[in-house]
Amino acid sequence: MNDLVNTLIKEHREIRNLLKELYSLIVEERYAELSQKLENFQPYLDQHVIDEEARILKAILEKYGREGAEGAIRVFQEHRLIHELIREMKAVASDKSELARKGEELRALLERHFRAEEEEVFPKALDAGKKK
Ligand SMILES: [Fe+2]
Ligand SMILES: [Fe+2]
Repeated sequence: MNDLVNTLIKEHREIRNLLKELYSLIVEERYAELSQKLENFQPYLDQHVIDEEARILKAILEKYGREGAEGAIRVFQEHRLIHELIREMKAVASDKSELARKGEELRALLERHFRAEEEEVFPKALDAGKKK
């Protein structure tokens, strides 16, 4: 569980860096590269989400049951929103102000999401893994 959580936190860092790159591409109007990066971003994020929902949530559910896992479930429900925003960014293609707006929305959402995971969900999963 420890290794998994460390990997997920490292991936959060990588995703934050990637968002900064996306932002630069929007500012510089490099839309072809932007859409390529968004294309690559999707499977990377998908794998991250699978690890969280399959392994982190599973450990919390096993230890604390459905009720004890409510917080984690609520945080992980944001995965659909995140997914949706990326899809929308792909769809707006080269409308600079829309891209900037959605990019900022994605950044704020992910920042909040990562914080909730790192401060609430992951510690709970670590705890669940320990006492088994
Ligand atoms: Fe997540
Ligand atoms: Fe995450």
